[in-house]
Amino acid sequence: MGKLASVAEALLTPHGVDRYLELIDPMLVRRGIRGRITAVRRQTPATLTMTIRPSRAWRGFRAGQYVRVTVTIDGVRRTRCYSPACSQHRADGQLELTVKALEDGLVSGYLHRYAEPGMVLGLSEPDGTFGLPDPRPEHVLLISGGSGITPVLAMLRTLADENHPGEVALLHYENEPADLPYRAELAELVADRPNFRVRFACTMTDRGGDLHGFFSRAHLDQVAPWFGAAETFLCGPVPLMDSVRKEYANEGLSERLHTEEFTPPAFAAEPGEVTGQVRFTRSGKEFANSGKPLLEQAEDAGLRPEHGCRMGICFSCTQLKASGPVRNLRTGEVSAEDNEEIQLCISAPCGDVEINA
Ligand code: FES
Repeated sequence: MGKLASVAEALLTPHGVDRYLELIDPMLVRRGIRGRITAVRRQTPATLTMTIRPSRAWRGFRAGQYVRVTVTIDGVRRTRCYSPACSQHRADGQLELTVKALEDGLVSGYLHRYAEPGMVLGLSEPDGTFGLPDPRPEHVLLISGGSGITPVLAMLRTLADENHPGEVALLHYENEPADLPYRAELAELVADRPNFRVRFACTMTDRGGDLHGFFSRAHLDQVAPWFGAAETFLCGPVPLMDSVRKEYANEGLSERLHTEEFTPPAFAAEPGEVTGQVRFTRSGKEFANSGKPLLEQAEDAGLRPEHGCRMGICFSCTQLKASGPVRNLRTGEVSAEDNEEIQLCISAPCGDVEINA
């Protein structure tokens, strides 16, 4: 079969077998991973949960990692990162992705409107270092807010499948009771596991949750009085992350706190670097460097480069920089190598820069 496939591949060059297989059934492609939606459900008005059967190239994931999901909207491929919310040991090998509709979310809005069984999505290999270590820590505390629940939920379900004997607790924050996802399911999951505990907190109401108000030491003591002896995994909005970090720093427990952040880079271009001309050679656009990330500068000039997360995670904005110095806004490093691949969303020019796009 392998030989036959390579002969076919050679005959079908330059397009390759995958281009033709894609037309017959996208799930048959041999390079790259696709996923077919097998079920959708709406747990809360703002969330969409999709069950997805990945194609054969999928090799599984570790709880806490994310995958890049690609959809084509109006002819443009768009990529976003989502963390599977299911156990990494899920028996049927399918993935569960829960997508929160963001107000101006292009991809999340599209999925909310159009996702249905049968739809095929592009998937990447799983990525990311946020996850449970091996061997598992004895006690595990999971703290999340909003869509940050998905990676820690995968951890909780994975530990449940492994019959983890230590204490495991999940403390999850949403604004209102109507936003709380997975409530019934998690109640069932912990019902016959006395060492597992799930508590939902509502920040904007004083009823409807197990706890109310923003993260506090009191919440921590109620949910996991043993937190000092645990490894804690945290994913959620910046204010929640900041308060948990502060509490753990006060307790001298910062090294036991593991975080996942989907936030834009903190660095900005240095004022002295806002010089030079930026040239997008293929599209023939040239303009004065404004100091913003290259993706934004290109968009300001009327270009529409492919992009996804806009924060350096998904790599969908990667382009070849022909020449010129750019600062990586995530690491702060400046690189002036010719013909190097850069991510437009986190690279700011520091002088004359030429991009092959
Ligand atoms: S848009 Fe995701 S890395 Fe640039």
